[in-house]
Amino acid sequence: MVLGLTLNLLFLFFIVQARAQEPQALEVNGAVGGVAFLNPRSPQDPSQYSQIHWRWENQVTIASWKRGQEPMYPKSRFLGRLELLDNHTLKMSDLSVGDSSEYRLYLEDDTGKESVQRVRLRVYDLVPKPHVGATTSGDAQQCNATLNCSVSLQGVTYEWIPLQNLPRNDGPVLSVSFNPAVETYVCRVSNPVSSNNASLTYRPPCSWTGESSSVTCATPSALVTLGHLVLLFLLLPVA
Ligand SMILES: *[C@@H]1O[C@H](CO)[C@@H](O)[C@H](O)[C@H]1NC(C)=O
Ligand SMILES: *[C@@H]1O[C@H](CO)[C@@H](O)[C@H](O)[C@H]1NC(C)=O
Ligand SMILES: *[C@@H]1O[C@H](CO)[C@@H](O)[C@H](O)[C@H]1NC(C)=O
Ligand SMILES: *[C@@H]1O[C@H](CO)[C@@H](O)[C@H](O)[C@H]1NC(C)=O
Repeated sequence: MVLGLTLNLLFLFFIVQARAQEPQALEVNGAVGGVAFLNPRSPQDPSQYSQIHWRWENQVTIASWKRGQEPMYPKSRFLGRLELLDNHTLKMSDLSVGDSSEYRLYLEDDTGKESVQRVRLRVYDLVPKPHVGATTSGDAQQCNATLNCSVSLQGVTYEWIPLQNLPRNDGPVLSVSFNPAVETYVCRVSNPVSSNNASLTYRPPCSWTGESSSVTCATPSALVTLGHLVLLFLLLPVA
């Protein structure tokens, strides 16, 4: 009983040790349809290793190389999309979201000593053009509007940018242009690999026009129903 417990503790200790020694994975981002370079930690001398291989999810060998031989690409979902470069970087083409995963590079030197490096690949869709719309609740004196921006893609960040008020840092000189009659707001949607935008333009007394036909202008009574992507609430007093 006591021995069993001690062994268990020892076992646990080794697991913790192994975890602690595992190096941090390098992070690589790629875009759908694009190319990613899974880089070993540099700098390193590629010639010091006699054989190397890349594994997908630490199970399937997807590319391997032995000194004096051509790289080999075992049959896998990556077949035809991989190229092992001379410096052991793995070039992956025609990326899809499903390629997002952890990849490991196993390096073996002439003494048989093995080292492992981890690369975490994340593949993102390119951000499509956002749909923008304005909901007004104004009267003749004051035009209130809620601008709405959306794309059918998760994991993106939204920004509304008032074009007229963009600060221009040209040193000691500040140029400003001011046109109270027309104001344009740009919604920019971004993820780590791309961004896209669409704009809405305000015209007095209380109308909004967009670049595309996707713009909706409505005057609902219940502002309460406005959903999760309401980003800007504007107060635009009519001059
Ligand atoms: C290996 O070579 C490729 C192509 O020249 C380059 O993009 C990559 O950064 C290199 N990797 C390292 C670790 O130097
Ligand atoms: C516009 O917004 C202001 C501030 O929230 C509010 O006091 C006013 O009643 C609104 N006007 C209309 C017409 O909804
Ligand atoms: C909007 O996108 C265009 C290219 O489509 C780019 O030139 C412009 O700088 C973008 N505007 C903003 C505010 O991000
Ligand atoms: C914003 O626009 C999207 C798509 O155009 C729509 O589904 C959503 O209901 C709108 N939300 C608001 C608050 O108007």
